[in-house]
Amino acid sequence: MIRSVVRGYGAALPKRVMTNRDLEDIVETSDEWIVQRTGITQRYIAGEGETTASLGEQAARAALDNAGLTPDDIDLVLVATSTPDNTFPATAVDIQRRLGMNHGYAFDMQAVCSGFVYAMATADLHIRGGMARRALVIGAETFSRILDWKDRTTCVLFGDGAGALVLEAEEGTGTTADRGVLTAQLRSDGAHKDKLYVDGGPSSTGTVGHLRMEGREVFKHAVGMITDVIEGAFEATGTTADDLDWLVPHQANRRIIDGSAKKLGIPSEKVVVTVDLHGNTSAASIPLALSVACADGRIKKGDLVMLEAMGGGFTWGSVLVRW
Ligand code: UT7
Repeated sequence: MIRSVVRGYGAALPKRVMTNRDLEDIVETSDEWIVQRTGITQRYIAGEGETTASLGEQAARAALDNAGLTPDDIDLVLVATSTPDNTFPATAVDIQRRLGMNHGYAFDMQAVCSGFVYAMATADLHIRGGMARRALVIGAETFSRILDWKDRTTCVLFGDGAGALVLEAEEGTGTTADRGVLTAQLRSDGAHKDKLYVDGGPSSTGTVGHLRMEGREVFKHAVGMITDVIEGAFEATGTTADDLDWLVPHQANRRIIDGSAKKLGIPSEKVVVTVDLHGNTSAASIPLALSVACADGRIKKGDLVMLEAMGGGFTWGSVLVRW
């Protein structure tokens, strides 16, 4: 059977770092509160000329370089984002243009913080279905542009950035010893729509709007949803927590990450955490964390890696990958 194998990774961050201390000048908050409640110490904020598409392009180029490939080798560009440069066309086609590609196809996916997991699952289907041989899967966001900078309950949590993977079709045997995506578990429940949303849009207000979140309500559901899709991935593949080399979670909150790992019996040494440095970068958080853990040599070829995310919608999901 065909498997979608990771060939390369890349990441991009804006130039400007904003620390918790910097935020103390903007809203009534403290470094101590932010660190204690979230684990975040700093985040990157896009400046003039830095957009979701420019960061996505940078991450895509880095992933191509890492894979030893060029844009000519890519058939599909898939971008997970909730903060596109324009309402349309898709950020993916802009990145396609920036890469000088006028072949293949490109589109965006919108599943908020679960976007990268949804995009990986979708790219895997396109590759296994024979529509694409090589895909660039990108998570790119500029949440700083939809934050209400007067709302301390949200503006301290998020940051900007982008990450990308190159996936390529490879013949596998159909066992969990194969490299590539082994299973994807996706879920959503629109009943929770109002707990994490943006209060604007083309068809409702005609404005972009700002992010609104009932943080405590999201927190209450997070660990249960995350463990549900991870257990689903174990069940689908006959693997267990002991088989995992790495858990690479969506980076929203250190307490959620630790709580989920503990519930699943995954030791903290196997969990990749970058929320301290990046904040919550929504769909970009998993590929950013992957890039850090690949670059520093933690994630190696052949490792079993679990990706998971939960976010607005609610949406949640997991992808199990043999690296
Ligand atoms: O990525 C998508 C998914 N999103 C998430 O996973 C986010 C999930 N939620 C969370 O991570 C947490 O709920 C938060 C970090 C957002 C908040 O932590 P919490 O422990 O749930 O705090 P809380 O909302 O219960 O607020 C506790 C107190 C409140 O004061 P009172 O009512 O107890 O007097 C808040 O007003 O902290 C206050 N507070 C702040 N204080 C200083 C809220 N924001 C801040 C702040 N600085 N920035």
